[in-house]
Amino acid sequence: MQNYSHASITAPRSDDFVSETIDPVVALNFINGIIDGRYPDLGGHQQRMRRNTISFARLIGLSLEESEFLAIGAGMHDIGKLHISDYIINKPSQLTTSEFLLIRQHAEIGCRLLNPLNLDPRITDIVLYHHENYDGSGYPKGLSGDEIPLLARAVRILDSYDALIESRPYHKGVATDEALLIMRRDSQQYDPHLLKLFGEIKFAD
Ligand SMILES: [Fe+2]
Repeated sequence: MQNYSHASITAPRSDDFVSETIDPVVALNFINGIIDGRYPDLGGHQQRMRRNTISFARLIGLSLEESEFLAIGAGMHDIGKLHISDYIINKPSQLTTSEFLLIRQHAEIGCRLLNPLNLDPRITDIVLYHHENYDGSGYPKGLSGDEIPLLARAVRILDSYDALIESRPYHKGVATDEALLIMRRDSQQYDPHLLKLFGEIKFAD
């Protein structure tokens, strides 16, 4: 029987560390250094997503600042998975209900882990809300439509796309066209305007 107790570790209080704002790019590089060494698959996933943010941000019409926040948030959105058991993260078969509930905690854990860095809330909102679905069926809060911050809605799409094209222990990656078809079929999960713009990106397969 696996011991998952560490998934409920309480993140440090913000006053345990610093009271100043940390440069988010420095924070991202630091976080990626840890993740790349420990979880190369997760590091690769976040870095691929960052690359697609440049084209996506341009199509959405984001400001320079928001584009940078999107890239930074995409590059650290799954940091909460550091607190989830390797057994669950790499499990090749279907997750049990209790395992699924544990892995869902990574969004809130990730946001709590970032608290001491005092990052712009538009970045930490990406980490917290990147699994919210446009129709309200996502987690952790079940937000819907424009209640979900814009940058989190964008990362929801970037994340799904990368999960579909990349081979993982539990599924074989598909080509870009097929990934977009699958996402359009499940379009209730995504901001329809953003999904349309995402389909205009010239992807390198
Ligand atoms: Fe995630």
